[in-house]
Amino acid sequence: MMGRWRLVGVLSFLVAAMTAGLIISHGGDVDGMRVAIRATARTSLVLFVMAFTASALAELLPSAATRWQRRNRRYLGVSFAVSHFIHLGVIVALASVDRVLFWQLTNIATIVLAGSAYLFIAAMAATSFDRTAAWLGPRKWRLLHLVGGWYIWISFAIAVGKRVPLDRFYWPMAALVLVAAIVRLLAMLRRNRRQAAISAP
Ligand code: HEM
Repeated sequence: MMGRWRLVGVLSFLVAAMTAGLIISHGGDVDGMRVAIRATARTSLVLFVMAFTASALAELLPSAATRWQRRNRRYLGVSFAVSHFIHLGVIVALASVDRVLFWQLTNIATIVLAGSAYLFIAAMAATSFDRTAAWLGPRKWRLLHLVGGWYIWISFAIAVGKRVPLDRFYWPMAALVLVAAIVRLLAMLRRNRRQAAISAP
């Protein structure tokens, strides 16, 4: 068990070290902060997709790798939360050093909609421990993680989607977001079909 939390420790350390390295190598200026904001959004996307698709992939494409992913999905999810709170931390730092640039890069609608994603991320991370998950109960836990997962997916779809026309670089990120949803939906369809076959007379 401790070994899996170590995965969270290692991944969180790597994201924090990358963020600090990027900011320091730019002399602590706002350009470095912007690079760090974009880099942490990308580490968050990869970790989120790994956690979000873990069960579905293990079901659709069983292998040692997808079984590892499913076994570790809780730890991948918590690592995503850490990475994304680092994203938020650097955004807050940027807002405090250059208010004008901050409002050029974002707007109130993004703050409200993307900010709400953080409520889900915090609630999902807080209920990723045995005790807190038991306190919430399996039905509410499933509902929170289902609705929260899709809300975060929509946040990525919007954040990446609106940048696709700006640069080809965003195409692979958009493809990753799209594939994550397709994998989840395919696994859901397969489960529903199996359920229907079992309950058929
Ligand atoms: C209060 C909430 C948030 C604010 C104010 C915010 C702000 C920003 C800003 C200013 C950038 C662009 C930095 C730059 O170009 O210099 C950015 C990038 C990004 N953010 Fe956030 N963000 C928030 C939450 C989120 C959430 C919840 C997600 C997804 C779940 C997200 C995903 C992204 C992505 C994918 C990028 C693009 C990274 C890239 O260019 O590769 N953000 N964010």
